[in-house]
Parts: sequence; structure tokens; C-alpha cells
Amino acid sequence: MLRHTRPKGTQDFIPPVSQQKLLVENTFRDLAVIYGFQEIVTPTFEHTELFIKSSGTGSDIVIKEMYSFQDRSQRSLTLKPEGTPGVIRAVLENRLVLPARLYYITPCFRYSRPQKGRYREFYQLGIEALGEASARTDAELIHFGVRFFSRLNIAGLTVMVNSIGCRTCRQDYREKLLTFLRLNREALCPDCQQRIEVNPLRVLDCKNDHCQTMLQKAPVPREYLCSDCQTHFTIVINELTARQLPYRIDDHLVRGLDYYNRTTFEFVSDKLGAQNSLGGGGRYDYLIEELGGPPTPASGLAIGLERTMLAMPQLEVPTGRRQLVFVIWTSENELRTAVDLTDRLREAGIPAQLSFDSPKLKRQLHLADLADAAFAVIVGEEELKRGVYGLKNLTTGEQIELPAPELISRLKPLLAV
Ligand code: HAM
Repeated sequence: MLRHTRPKGTQDFIPPVSQQKLLVENTFRDLAVIYGFQEIVTPTFEHTELFIKSSGTGSDIVIKEMYSFQDRSQRSLTLKPEGTPGVIRAVLENRLVLPARLYYITPCFRYSRPQKGRYREFYQLGIEALGEASARTDAELIHFGVRFFSRLNIAGLTVMVNSIGCRTCRQDYREKLLTFLRLNREALCPDCQQRIEVNPLRVLDCKNDHCQTMLQKAPVPREYLCSDCQTHFTIVINELTARQLPYRIDDHLVRGLDYYNRTTFEFVSDKLGAQNSLGGGGRYDYLIEELGGPPTPASGLAIGLERTMLAMPQLEVPTGRRQLVFVIWTSENELRTAVDLTDRLREAGIPAQLSFDSPKLKRQLHLADLADAAFAVIVGEEELKRGVYGLKNLTTGEQIELPAPELISRLKPLLAV
């Protein structure tokens, strides 16, 4: 019986899956830098009010998914359920000069029912373009997402876009929607019935089939856009077309967080089942002001790391043995030389390892095998006298001798370092 197991909804990333995670993170980092983003790191927990203020009292996150706790000084703290609020708090607190483009890779925590692609701890890869008002920024962020998924060879991706208007036009729309929902209350699922008064817009993207059928007749935000919002949306669409990015307008895409205005978008995969959103984002021109800063336009997105990994074609890890050299010594007399050699290999950028524990050749070869090393370098007494090392290819079993001074230059191309 296992004495300790991981908490429900959490995951271990063990090799080689941890390597695939690294590949996804590195792909994201490289792309973020290419688009002019710089890394920001914020705390794993923040004051609870920050999330209530930003994600919104009507969001599922705040209502039922936050990991909140009191610390020993009775402060209410919350493990971040998403990356955006901490970034904005940090930008304001550190008085960063805007415009600024920031990216992050962070664990997030949401207490939701675990299933494929939905976890209680998961990683978000996010970018935030702060101080950029143009609709073209929104399209550029969408392009960023498409390029990211294409670099990871993810097929079956659809970009969904919508506009949910601004403070002005949304007010008018909200009234129309409320009237419709109140009239049709009985036909909605219990969750939606509750949402009507708290967050009516969220009813639109309920996953329940009955609700969706009924909602086909509901008024949608795009029909009520003011002329500025209409122009903004047209520019987003034109820019997507100019960039030859396929997209679908989804009138019900309102997103689960309260801070969005105008553009909302999501990257949806046909490989994931119910949790099909690989990433999403949109414009949030009011959030910085609501958190105490000056009025500042902003737009951003976050991609789910685990869902990205699930949608990838196969485990993209190098096949065959690891790019690792195992240094083997045959008696205590050679240990010093072996330790120094291992260190020189490492200095030269060659991944190298040795075992201090047993002088037995057979045991050390077994350990090299367990470590999945590509090569073993054998430091033997008799070989040392002749100024050579043994080099064993652990894939083919072939063994040759190499003059000691040539070892590093001969190993480098073999290991592609
Ligand atoms: P979000 O749609 O709530 O947006 O989350 C972004 C992505 O995180 C989702 O598309 C999904 O891939 C992943 N995700 C969310 N919840 C889970 C979960 N329980 N398990 C696994 N993956 C999950 C945001 O959080 C916004 N902050 C995005 C944004 C940035 N908007 C503007 N800037």
C-alpha cells in the first residue's frame, strides 16, 4: 500500500514527460522573446482581494474554485488561479513604464472537478501587451498563439473570436439579454438560472446542450456593438485575414473572467474532448484602472501547458539513449583521474556522470545502462599507462580506444554538443 499519494487533480512530470514539458516551455519562451516580450515572475499567492477584484465576483473561479487560506497572521491569501492579476499588480506596484510586453510561465490553482485536461494545479504560459490599444495587437496575439501551436506540430486547431463590446454598449446589451433570460429561466440548467442575476453573459457559453438550443434565439453582444467597438472588431478580422489566419466568429464566446472587453478569443482543439480550450485571452482595457492604475489599454492570452502536451502529436522526446557519458573507473587508483576527467567533460559542455559507490566494472556498466547513457568512457590502469581511454558505444556495444588528448574533441560531434 502506498503511504503517500499526490493530491487529487495534481500531476507529476517524470522523465521523459518532463522533457516534453521543457520543450513546450522553451518553444513558448523563444517565441515570446521574438515578439518582444520580457519575462515577469510574480508570487504564487497574492492577497485574496486581488483576484476577487480582477477575475470578478461573478466568475466561477472566484465563486467556487479558489484555493484561499488564512495565514498565521489571519491574512486571507489565495494561490493564483490565473496569471494576469498578479502581473498587473506587480506592474503597478513596481511602477513599470508602459507600454510593456511581459510573458510568464506559472503554476495556477483551481479547485475544479478533475478530468482529462482539467487539473487543480496546472501551468499557464501567458503574454500580456500592456498599454497597447490597437485592434492589430489583438490580431498579433492571436497570430502568436497560432504560431506557437504550429511550432509544436499541433493540428486540428480552430481560432474562435468574438467581441463583447465596451462599458457603453455592453450596458444596453446586458439589459436585452437579462430580459430574454428571465423570460426563459425555466428552460435553463440550474447553474445558468443562478448566473442570470450574477453574471448573465456567462450563460451564453454554458456547455449544456439544452441551454445551447434555447440560447440560439438569445440576443448576442455583437448585434449591440457601438460604432467604435464595431470598428475595432472589423480591424481585428481584417488583420487576421491579411495574416491569412483562419478563424471562426463565435457569438457566444464571452470567456469565464469578468475583466474582458471588446475582443475575446480562444484556441480550440479537436483532440481534447470536453476540455477543448488550449488557450484563450482577449482585451481588458479596464482592469489596470480597476486595480488602481491610470486608464491603460491591455490585451493578453494564456495557454494551458498540460492541454498543449495532450494535443501534441506524440511524445516529442529524443528517441534512443541520452546524450550522456558515464565515466567508469576500474580500481581506487584510477578514481582521481576519473573524477577529474568527468569534471573536464562537464567544463567542455559534455553531460557526464560517474558513480562513486562501487569499483566493480560490471556494476558501473550496469549503472551506465540504467542511466541510459549513450557512451561509457573507461579509465583503466593499463590503458592509462598507454595514454588512452576506452570508449564504449552503449547502443551498439562497440568499444574502441582513444588517445586521451583527443577524447573531448571526438566525443563532441558524437553527442552533438
Ligand atoms: P483561461 O481561459 O481561464 O484564461 O485560462 C487559460 C488556459 O489555461 C485555458 O485555455 C486552459 O488551456 C488552461 N486552463 C485553465 N484552467 C485549467 C485547468 N483547471 N486545468 C488545466 N488547464 C487549465 C485566463 O486565465 C486568462 N488569464 C488569460 C488571459 C491572459 N487573458 C488575458 N491575458
